[in-house]
Amino acid sequence: MGIVKKATSIANISMNDLSLEYHLLKEEIDIAIQEVLQSGRFIGGPEVEKFEKDWASFLGSKHVISCANGTDALQIALMALDLKAGEEIIIPAYGYIAVAEVALLLGLKPVIVDVGEDYNINPDLIKAAITEKTRAIAPIHLFGHCADMMAIMNIADQHGLYVIEDAAQAAGASVPLGSELKKAGTIGTIGTYSHFPTKNLACYGDGGSICTSDQKLADKIIKIKVHGQNKKYHHEIIGINSRLDALQAAILNIKLKHLDTFNQYRKEVASWYQAGLGDNDSIKLQPVSTHHVYHQFAIQIDEKFRTRLIKRLSEKNIASTIYYPKAFSQQRALQGNIRVHSDEMARSLTKTTLCLPISNTIRKEEIEYICAVINQV
Ligand SMILES: Cc1ncc(COP(=O)(O)O)c(C=O)c1O
Repeated sequence: MGIVKKATSIANISMNDLSLEYHLLKEEIDIAIQEVLQSGRFIGGPEVEKFEKDWASFLGSKHVISCANGTDALQIALMALDLKAGEEIIIPAYGYIAVAEVALLLGLKPVIVDVGEDYNINPDLIKAAITEKTRAIAPIHLFGHCADMMAIMNIADQHGLYVIEDAAQAAGASVPLGSELKKAGTIGTIGTYSHFPTKNLACYGDGGSICTSDQKLADKIIKIKVHGQNKKYHHEIIGINSRLDALQAAILNIKLKHLDTFNQYRKEVASWYQAGLGDNDSIKLQPVSTHHVYHQFAIQIDEKFRTRLIKRLSEKNIASTIYYPKAFSQQRALQGNIRVHSDEMARSLTKTTLCLPISNTIRKEEIEYICAVINQV
């Protein structure tokens, strides 16, 4: 598929204009939606089954189980592993709160381990955070770039820990494991994804999925997401209700066909940023990697310069976002409920990080314009 974009004004650049992407895929999407509407099957059915099968095959994982969103995916994963109240789960100090939140809802203790400059959990610090209560490590593959899974899996193997990969922001990213290349989410015990509209593999509402190659875990996950039942109205364990609906699955089936092309396009967009900002000594760019799928394009700049830059970009109608303004240890909801092992880098990144527009449809001249505005500041 060629990336053909609807002409837009360069005068207004949002973080990710989803309507442009819809126009790009309109013909296919409209047909798929009509087919679901005509079928009268809105929950479950062939579209959901197809998505689970095709996504599993794309990932090279034995099982994909769909669910309602990426937060549920994490909660179901932790429930399936039977982690008990009071047990500890190691998570990065920086990122999206979902994993910390569901761990706490289940009575687990999140243990915060600092990240590296690449925003992912620093494996060198994990060992020192492990206690006799530790049961799992949950790396978040932030901004589309995977954590060091080789190192994390080695530690997990040595200490008999589960690994839950939060791959919500890294659908389609690859991870080198020795001579092998694996997909984000497929290396640990369980991988989870969000298909929220801005994600790399996104639907037009909420959606999520869980992958595992362990048959027993897959069976348990399937049970948990339908009220713990193995047969209609026969409830064996306590579960939740978490469904991907047929319309969202139909959209995901189209989007999945284009995932690699879109991820490739995002890498190109990142290379335009690298070309435009690479010589600017005030800015630190994310490391260039062919394995990165650039869910976000993050730069690091001095705190004072960041404030000025946001203002200038906004004056020029260019969006920018601080992902994330607080480390987990600074979130009031988590304070007192977590054990902080280390978070110095995370705190520093909250002051220096700024994410710039990136999407499947943003044009080269828009990136050149953004870079010109930044370099002027
Ligand atoms: C890293 C990460 N994990 C989990 C989630 C939760 O996904 P959802 O919004 O689909 O519940 C998100 C969503 O932004 C995320 O970015």
